[in-house]
Amino acid sequence: MTTAIYPGSFDPVTVGHLDIIKRAAKLFDNVIVAVLVNMEKKPWFTIEERTGLLKKATQGIDNVEIAGFDGLLVDFAAQKGASAIVKGLRAVSDFEYEFQMALTNRKLDDTLETVFLTSSAENMFLSSSIVKQVGLLGGDISTFVPEEIKDEILLRIKQRSQMK
Ligand code: PNS
Repeated sequence: MTTAIYPGSFDPVTVGHLDIIKRAAKLFDNVIVAVLVNMEKKPWFTIEERTGLLKKATQGIDNVEIAGFDGLLVDFAAQKGASAIVKGLRAVSDFEYEFQMALTNRKLDDTLETVFLTSSAENMFLSSSIVKQVGLLGGDISTFVPEEIKDEILLRIKQRSQMK
């Protein structure tokens, strides 16, 4: 049985992430979507909120599990018996950063392979930062995020805009 980890900040999950999750779920027996800490980012949502949003967005996909972990990705993967890390790749700009992370993770654990799935063409531009930026400036984010969690994201955008 092959288990893959799809790690990320997911702050919040977008339709681009969901597309990668669905496609990874067809390739692997089990996919664990792991909300991890990116020390470079200041998240809007707590790990618990992000896992909650992911659970709602992935309801009905049988072989997908959601988890949060505050530590090294390779340690989480070992704990779960995973053999692969799945990452979505949008454009050339993602490559250097993703390549560095893949090589770091392989250096830390050479039994783990990173598998890149290219983003769908319609999601090439999309990121969690774009959702937050467009939302904060009053733009329509309804096609950027899964319908089931749109209202929760809009509520956080409203709260953040009141902090400005
Ligand atoms: O969605 P992101 O922010 O690009 O995801 C990056 C993430 C969270 C997967 C990465 O920062 C990570 O793996 N964090 C856990 C800590 C870790 O293992 N760091 C070493 C690998 S670079």
